[in-house]
Amino acid sequence: MNRREFARLLAIGGAVPFVTPELSWARAAKLPPTPASPDEKFWLSVRDQFVMPKDLTMLNAANLCPSSGPVLDTLYKMTRDMDQDPSMDNRVKLGEGRENTRKLLAEFLRVTPEEIVITRNTSESNNLVSTGVDLKAGDEVLLTADNHPSNHTAWQQKAKRFGFTVTDVPVPNPHPGFDHYVEAFSKAITPNTKLIAFTHLTSTVGDLFPAKEICKLARDRGILTLVDGAQTFGLLDVDLSDIQPDFYSGSAHKWPCGPKENGVLYINKSAQSKIWASIYSAYPGSVGVSRSFEGFGQRDEPAMIAFGEALKLQTQIGRAQIERRSRELTQALIQGLKKIDGVKIWTSPEPSRAAAVLSFQPGGLDVRKLSTALYQKDRIGCATRGGQDRPGIRFSPHFYNTHADVEKTVAAIKKYMATGV
Ligand SMILES: Cc1ncc(COP(=O)(O)O)c(C=O)c1O
Repeated sequence: MNRREFARLLAIGGAVPFVTPELSWARAAKLPPTPASPDEKFWLSVRDQFVMPKDLTMLNAANLCPSSGPVLDTLYKMTRDMDQDPSMDNRVKLGEGRENTRKLLAEFLRVTPEEIVITRNTSESNNLVSTGVDLKAGDEVLLTADNHPSNHTAWQQKAKRFGFTVTDVPVPNPHPGFDHYVEAFSKAITPNTKLIAFTHLTSTVGDLFPAKEICKLARDRGILTLVDGAQTFGLLDVDLSDIQPDFYSGSAHKWPCGPKENGVLYINKSAQSKIWASIYSAYPGSVGVSRSFEGFGQRDEPAMIAFGEALKLQTQIGRAQIERRSRELTQALIQGLKKIDGVKIWTSPEPSRAAAVLSFQPGGLDVRKLSTALYQKDRIGCATRGGQDRPGIRFSPHFYNTHADVEKTVAAIKKYMATGV
């Protein structure tokens, strides 16, 4: 049946035989091995692994990344396999695939599979911690003002319910440096502090926090730590065996470029006796904490397997190379934007205080209108921040972006700053 016949059948409301849809994305050429010093040609071949049209410049990794062709293929193939034969016998391999993803996650974060819970996203992971840790009246949780609602509003609401208190550690702008935060947390700790929940790299203006140092400070005082890694998982070459948090959360659909509704919660072995599961149901994971913590009922196992595929692609390219590339593109954007009169950059240009989340105020331009113009006229996707507190545009480039994207974007901002929107 051709497309016209198919449309005609739909229009007359007739029965439509199920046809296997053609895969509408082109198969990418095989990715070459990553050279020791990857050039633009190599990164263009990485870009080719994604199905986004060539003229679309996506600078919004902090919000949602595209899945690569290999991830889409796996998702489709596994879903089709399951729906062709949904018997329990056929689905044994899906359970094995989910455990394989747990292993890949553990390798990726340099911890053990026994410490990995596969969740739906960072929001769920953060909330599993704020609901699961036993806290009561008289206990205190330290937060930072720039935490995402899933790690800020959630704690505030649970404080109301369970009777503990929350205290915000202020987030000055520009980023005052790692020492400032170590001292600020050190001063804010009281004998009642039981947990510190902070964001590794903030989604607001891209401030990088000294995760290892804050976790050590807390550990030395018997305080638990939750590191929200939504903006570092899949961007930085994160090593949890070095950072040593009690809990770390992340989403597949952001920097790892995995499928939607998949995420991770790392629960350090030493913290597993200090957290309750929030959901008890069938089909938990097979090892370690996932046996008691991941009984979430029926899951979308094809998506979990595709999550593993996303991690494999990043590992194949090289995580240190991905971090380097995203940082390099961010620095190029900062250098370009700095030269435009009226642009105020909120993100620290100092690489040790930032990574690949960059936000700036484009003079007096209306940021909503500017972002619409960027998308509709220039095919550039970004995010906006309204209000009075560090308002502006947020760019978050990733390994699928190119220097041509950066040049096009800087030229577009320059044009709108000169002519208005
Ligand atoms: C720092 C941070 N934490 C948590 C989240 C929530 O992520 P998700 O919507 O994948 O749960 C976000 C989303 O942007 C974020 O930036």
